[in-house]
Amino acid sequence: MLKNNNKSSVIPGFYNFSEEERLETLADFAGLERSQLETLSNYGNLDKHLAHLFIENTVGVFSLPLGVAPNFVINGKPYLVPMAVEESSVVAAASHGAKLVAARGGFKARVNKNPQMTGQMQFFPDLSCDFERILSDHKEEAIAFANSGQERLLTRGGGVTNLTWYTIPELSCLVVLLHVGTCDAMGANIVNTLCEKLSVFLAKLLGNCEVGLRILTNLTLERTVEASCIISPETLSPKGDGELVVDQIIRAYEFAYFDVLRASTHNKGVMNGIDPVVIATGNDWRAVEAGAHAFAARSGSYKPLTKWSKTLKGELFGVIELPMALGTVGGVTKLHPMAQLALKILGTPTADELAEIVACVGLAQNLSALKALATEGIQKGHMGLHAKNINEQRMRVSAINE
Ligand code: MEV
Repeated sequence: MLKNNNKSSVIPGFYNFSEEERLETLADFAGLERSQLETLSNYGNLDKHLAHLFIENTVGVFSLPLGVAPNFVINGKPYLVPMAVEESSVVAAASHGAKLVAARGGFKARVNKNPQMTGQMQFFPDLSCDFERILSDHKEEAIAFANSGQERLLTRGGGVTNLTWYTIPELSCLVVLLHVGTCDAMGANIVNTLCEKLSVFLAKLLGNCEVGLRILTNLTLERTVEASCIISPETLSPKGDGELVVDQIIRAYEFAYFDVLRASTHNKGVMNGIDPVVIATGNDWRAVEAGAHAFAARSGSYKPLTKWSKTLKGELFGVIELPMALGTVGGVTKLHPMAQLALKILGTPTADELAEIVACVGLAQNLSALKALATEGIQKGHMGLHAKNINEQRMRVSAINE
């Protein structure tokens, strides 16, 4: 079929088309061959019904390799970590970093105490009204109103715990923050629903004022995770120059600390570890990415998400801290068979435990990258693995051209 560029992409009711009609329209528009349509029709390990349930206008499934990174010991517990990723050397680097850390007892990790999601409700009241007093006087009532109908969440120990607020004078608006415990759910839906419901109640109190946006923030400052590790110089380099490697890794971190161009790549390396686990467990990696980068820039300048220093004994000490809003119940996590499998491989963790695992993988990934970059460079290891990829691509292209 030939590609016809005169066809319109404005297709009324496309979302109502049956799968066959959609594929036909697509094939016609993009000039797809029968074999390409067959590729689209292969749903792999995702039930077709689920693929259509998850998103709109489904025409197929996009598969990613799922690897497993061994060697992770976190808070004394062993883990094999599933990672869904397309980039060669990422899984190998995570495993390598974890092995270095396991030699010294493994990672320590913890989420912040009483993790909470935060929703934002924007109002445009007459700011000369005494909104401070109004909100303070009605705070408990507003929290009770928001929590009404949320018995299941409350029984699990979650629910709205607090309201705080601030103004943005440049916009003449008031922002009320809703703080809510969402337990093992990521919580976006709960928070957004609560914000929409409560905003009606609060707008009335604030003189029937105009309501602006009502949505969670992905900068989940009250749902963060911290992980750390220690690596001895002997483990870092069996050649006897481990102390030098410690210094080289710290210097590599300092480069990222003082230079935003480097900080961006440093954090890309951290996310190389984080995203694949977030994806494998069916979580929202865009939310995690958005939170991570906003957190990295919270001082006003963009900084590395990890920090490397030396202990008094001359060992390498690494820390990572970032927002981590993950779920282990509900949504895709619950329905996607691969996400369920990934969670099973991880020992069916709670959302907090999963956040701890994910942070450790980010730290391990960064350790491996910095060690390679600061010593022999990454191309030797990375390109060794990448070369296989490139070779395969070349072979496929020449097979197509023959
Ligand atoms: C490549 O995917 C990731 C690295 O660039 C990370 C870094 O530079 O720290 C190797």
